[in-house]
Amino acid sequence: MALPSALPSRLRLVVALLLLCCMPRAPWALSIEARLEQCLSCHGASGRSENAEVPSLGGQPPLFVTIELFMFREKQRRVEVMNEFAKGLANEEISWLAERISRIPPPKPPSDPPDPMRYERGRELARLHRCASCHNPDFSGREQMARLVHQREDYLIKAMRDYKSGARPGYDPAMASVLYPLQDADLRDLAHYLAFLH
Ligand code: HEC
Ligand code: HEC
Repeated sequence: MALPSALPSRLRLVVALLLLCCMPRAPWALSIEARLEQCLSCHGASGRSENAEVPSLGGQPPLFVTIELFMFREKQRRVEVMNEFAKGLANEEISWLAERISRIPPPKPPSDPPDPMRYERGRELARLHRCASCHNPDFSGREQMARLVHQREDYLIKAMRDYKSGARPGYDPAMASVLYPLQDADLRDLAHYLAFLH
């Protein structure tokens, strides 16, 4: 009587073991780990980028990272270096990278103090244009909406200029319309406020 019930379970075990042995799990894990290391050599292993116009990635929402990597891979977001690094990434690898990146600690603010006038102006602009309604009251981001707090100031400026000029189409077209009425000086003050937020 024990046999019929024991057989399927033993079979299940054999099948599971076979799957485990035949799946390229170990080498895949190794190479994607190595790739993540490459990524972080530019983006900063501590979560904070030390390179001009290279964004810090620590604490970015996994969905945001997934979407951006997908857009880089498909060349819908055109930035040569990232198009190269995203080339050939499988969807599961993108999800894995996004999950790992989201768990890297968020960047810290710069140690020097902000310019109080620009900081206040930036804060007022962020309030008027309801940036927090999407990016969260503390600008930590959620879902497809990027984390902005303590991002590099130069990168925030570049990102906003690229949305405004159409160089960065965005998976979600929200940013182009949000920034439409803003001038370049506004973008710079917004970036200053977000980079130093306290
Ligand atoms: C040689 C440096 C370099 C390497 C290596 C690199 N990146 Fe990037 N990455 C950049 C730059 C520069 C940008 C900003 C592109 C722009 O100006 O829009 C960027 C943008 C991004 C963004 C968008 C972030 C945002 O806030 O808009 C993500 C996500 C990202 N990279 C992830 C990765 C991953 C994952 C890897 C490894 C597979 C990687 N990067 C490797 C330089 C690099
Ligand atoms: C209606 C929702 C919404 C509002 C309001 C909004 N954003 Fe965004 N923002 C988004 C989304 C969605 C993205 C990601 C778009 C993409 O590139 O796919 C984004 C991306 C960004 C990025 C790029 C960040 C990065 O790391 O690449 C910056 C900078 C930004 N927003 C700043 C702002 C500022 C400043 C305001 C207010 C003036 C604002 N946003 C208001 C939805 C919004």
